[in-house]
Amino acid sequence: MVQATSNVYGSLIGGQWIKGEEKLPVKNKYTGETIGYITNASRKDVESAVGNALETFKNNKLSVHKRYEILMKAAEIFAERKEELALTIVREAGKVLKDARGEIDRGIQTFIASAEEAKRITGEGIPLAGQPGNENKMSFTLRVPVGVIGAITPFNFPFNLTAHKIAPAIAAGNTVVLKPAELTPIIANKMAEILREAGLPDGYLNVVNGLGKDTGQYLLEDERIAMFTFTGSPGVGRHIKSTTGIRKVTLELGNNSPNIVHNDVADLDRAAELCVTRGYVNSGQACISVQRIYVQKEIYDQFVEKAIAVAKTINVGNPELEDTDIGPMISEKAAARAEEWIKEAEEQGAEIAFGGKRNGAVLDPTIVTNVKPSMKLVCEEVFAPVISIIPYETIDEAFEQANDSEFGLQAGVFTSDLNLAMKAAQTLEFGGVIINNVSTYRADIMPYGGIKNSGVGKEGPKYAIEEMTDERIVVIDL
Ligand code: SIN
Repeated sequence: MVQATSNVYGSLIGGQWIKGEEKLPVKNKYTGETIGYITNASRKDVESAVGNALETFKNNKLSVHKRYEILMKAAEIFAERKEELALTIVREAGKVLKDARGEIDRGIQTFIASAEEAKRITGEGIPLAGQPGNENKMSFTLRVPVGVIGAITPFNFPFNLTAHKIAPAIAAGNTVVLKPAELTPIIANKMAEILREAGLPDGYLNVVNGLGKDTGQYLLEDERIAMFTFTGSPGVGRHIKSTTGIRKVTLELGNNSPNIVHNDVADLDRAAELCVTRGYVNSGQACISVQRIYVQKEIYDQFVEKAIAVAKTINVGNPELEDTDIGPMISEKAAARAEEWIKEAEEQGAEIAFGGKRNGAVLDPTIVTNVKPSMKLVCEEVFAPVISIIPYETIDEAFEQANDSEFGLQAGVFTSDLNLAMKAAQTLEFGGVIINNVSTYRADIMPYGGIKNSGVGKEGPKYAIEEMTDERIVVIDL
């Protein structure tokens, strides 16, 4: 097997690692050291990767049980190499060790679920004879793979969100050209190597490394790609949608996740603990991390006090240490942008109840109160360890404020009233409403995807496979 030489990843095309001319360093996000390189794939490399994926698709000989075996074998190798893979995430993403281990565990489950779903891809019988004139017809549908899928992945969950694209695509019988996030590419390249080790034949997964504006753009412009699956910012999502015309897309974009804590909450300590710790998960760099917390007035002061007490227990620092809870953000620029939003809110009357300080790429866990709906901390996606706590009087007011957003990915509600919970499920305009847990809750097998500017389409292996297949009707004239 031809391997990527040492720590330099070129492009994986038809089983060969091809080095590009320009070498881009991958940095340890905490120490700033260079830990590896990618080379920028040229337009020619991208064309060759797509051509290879298309040829492989046309000659697709991978049976369903073979796809199952390969994905299961890859999951087994991930488990064997868990510690090394987790450390790769820690270093290139700045994610803390315990969360990086958790991400590998989740990715393993995503692969296993995709393998299992490969065996359950079915169409349905269509009772055409129910319409007069079709008495002598039989009909059913087949789900067929779409062809070559272009997968563009983000820096924040560089293993599991790559798994959510690659594993269902292969399970469904497609071939893939993957463009990993340029800030965190090594783990995705390792995933590709492991898939080959697990028996995935050449051409089923090609990888083009490089910058989004170059390599990513060449990929978007290649009309042989049948579908794109992307997780990232709403701006890039919009660009992808406008570039890819009538081709299929799944877009998982942002959110400014609201969480409502009503005065009948069963366990206020638990709600405060979850809201705070899940607001700081991966330094707040998750589309569903808690951002806006609406708390009923009667319990507001108590909640703020408890939230500050939880924030005080958060360990900030070196992500490689076992007990660190928050490491650096992906870059100093990203942390400085969030700090600027905090200062801007403060100038407009907000109070920093906790944190607010930055040291390079590390932003302290921050709690802001006395915010207004027009402040960026509230109405835009913060994507940093910053939560705002906002009082409300009536539950309808809370629903209205939660819905007052350009986004609609997931929301959380804490209440012990079943009717109120059901009303929340009906009223909140989000792809997911989580009752008695936070917006950050995600099981990898559930349908995951938003409405409004949060994107289109669903992930979760079963649902991703639906997106990544076409439904073909077959009619038999008897
Ligand atoms: C995301 O940021 O959209 C992914 C969050 C997760 O999978 O937990």
